[in-house]
Amino acid sequence: MEPLKHWQGEHVVIRFDEATGAWIIIAIHSTRLGPAGGGTRMKMYPSFDLALQDALNLARAMTLKFAVTEHAFGGGKAVIALPQNFDARERANLLRRYGALVHQLGGTFYTGPDVGTASSDMDVIAETGAPYVFGRTPGAGGAGDSGPITALGVFTGIQVACEQLYGSSDLRGRRVLVQGAGSVGGTLIHHLREADAVALFSDVDARAIQHFRAELGIELIAPEKIYATACDIFSPCALGGILNRETIARLNCRAIVGGANNQLAEMHDAERLRARGILYAPDYVVNIGGAMGITGIEALGWTRAEAEQRVRDTVQRVLRRVFAIAAAEQITTENAARQIAAERLEKSQ
Ligand code: PHE
Repeated sequence: MEPLKHWQGEHVVIRFDEATGAWIIIAIHSTRLGPAGGGTRMKMYPSFDLALQDALNLARAMTLKFAVTEHAFGGGKAVIALPQNFDARERANLLRRYGALVHQLGGTFYTGPDVGTASSDMDVIAETGAPYVFGRTPGAGGAGDSGPITALGVFTGIQVACEQLYGSSDLRGRRVLVQGAGSVGGTLIHHLREADAVALFSDVDARAIQHFRAELGIELIAPEKIYATACDIFSPCALGGILNRETIARLNCRAIVGGANNQLAEMHDAERLRARGILYAPDYVVNIGGAMGITGIEALGWTRAEAEQRVRDTVQRVLRRVFAIAAAEQITTENAARQIAAERLEKSQ
């Protein structure tokens, strides 16, 4: 329980699902701005402790993210840590039991899709977890997958980073390496191609490789070469913790702008990036699109076009401000973004 001592969140609900051997962890980091909102991550972890730590870190990131979007939501996250021998036929039943738990929390926690879950899973969770589930399929009355609108925000972040680096948001000819061509990274690659940027990608999934390399002709970078590959923008769109002492020393990019949550392994990595002169766009500023867009459409009645425009405007406005504060105060962009989030959290007291 050591991680909980340093977390400064509100509380955590933990349930062992006896039928499957999965752990369900719902971390409520902050309800200061409203009910805690955050996706449901479902995957295998090497240990329970790592699953708990991930849930805590991801919930904290959601607090920062919603503070930046100015939506009336706090931060939370659910992790469903699957056992090694998980029987995929149990998936729907597990999700229903999880939904019942979300329902029991009575609106303290709202959820949506995340790594390892899709809109179709949200439909199942909503059977027992309604009305606290965002991102169901359009057929079930939801706004669908949160990946594409997240990618739009990341794409906007890349434009803002180029404006900062090169004085123009024009992406023509800029080399952008996308780590992870999944729901967010895959859509991002399409936006980059439309803007005539040079997209490169890395992935370990055979289907993604087949689609992006064989069918679209995009250059595939081998996993061991990702960090040292020369590019203008490195865009982490897979899992977190990838920016650390070891990888930062090898980076050969001008800026980092990606959709993955918790890219920095530790706070000090922001200093390491600054020392290397690499412009870091804080993840929870550029990846707000899913959380902001999907909750905007479903809870605030925005049209899709309106949601897209608001996501783009917010990423642009906040990221420009982050870069300006960091330059003026000679602090890391991560600290500048935390200041902006803290302002909003304090205002609401
Ligand atoms: N996966 C989203 C994120 O990390 C969470 C989310 C998606 C929350 C959709 C609400 C609705 O930001």
